[in-house]
Amino acid sequence: MDAMVVKKCLFPVAGLGTRFLPVTKEIAKEMLPLVNRPIISYGVEEALNSGCSDIIMITGRAKRSIENYFDRSFELEHLLKSRGKEALYEKMLAISNMAEILYVRQREPLGLGHAVLCGEPFCRDGYFGVILPDDVFIGEPPVMAQLIDVHNRLGGSVIALEHVAPEDVSRYGIVRSEVLSDGIHRILDMVEKPPIEDAPSRYAIMGRYVLSPSIFSILAEQGAGAGGEIQLTDALRTLAKREPVWGLVYQGRRFDCGTQKGWLAANVQLALEDPELRSVVLDVISVANGDNP
Ligand code: G1P
Repeated sequence: MDAMVVKKCLFPVAGLGTRFLPVTKEIAKEMLPLVNRPIISYGVEEALNSGCSDIIMITGRAKRSIENYFDRSFELEHLLKSRGKEALYEKMLAISNMAEILYVRQREPLGLGHAVLCGEPFCRDGYFGVILPDDVFIGEPPVMAQLIDVHNRLGGSVIALEHVAPEDVSRYGIVRSEVLSDGIHRILDMVEKPPIEDAPSRYAIMGRYVLSPSIFSILAEQGAGAGGEIQLTDALRTLAKREPVWGLVYQGRRFDCGTQKGWLAANVQLALEDPELRSVVLDVISVANGDNP
């Protein structure tokens, strides 16, 4: 097994997006727009820009729009061509050519650990990445590349960590760790969504992982955990007792686009970084503030 190459990246996208209802009643949360592209596109771009070439989406029956987005649309392409819209035509073609994507159905909503287990037939031959696309990271280098860099230097599995506010601890997997150096932790233990009084630290697991394929046999034998779901955090806990698991306090800015607030903040931030859209945001804010023209 080549420990130095992380080529495959798994995207669990079967979740129903209940935190974002009612908009997610009919629209996959991963297809909500972040300025000009769907949320899922940012995760796929991050994987590709981190050196991964094979994308495996663990999807569900309500998520066909994700498959369609990354597929060819002959009707649209024909229409754009016949109307002389070459640039737009090329843009549409580029989306369907951006990655090799495999789709696997998670037939029952049994949790994140179960979703990862659904990817076993495609990922069992080496270390692989996992991207939870709700967590959108803005910054360079991409967070997945930062994790792969740690894996290449130290071997083993790597998870992204963020030091969170006390009131946010119960929303995440929380680790017990010892600090090695420059933002790198050795993970000793972890617990999924603990109340603050039981939390071993305030270092939370964020939606990026480089995982050892040993995780699959652990997941296969594991029962339901917090919330009655098969939790990836519980499997990582077992893994950390058998193999090295590192935590990296990533560099960059994260937006939880699975919530309205995080999604809105990400849109504003990305618009502010866009030369054509920046003035639109600033104008709205200045009118709202009652600033004089
Ligand atoms: C999942 C993981 C959790 C992690 C979080 C990051 O939770 O189970 O450990 O901290 O993603 O976003 P979810 O947000 O799916 O409930």
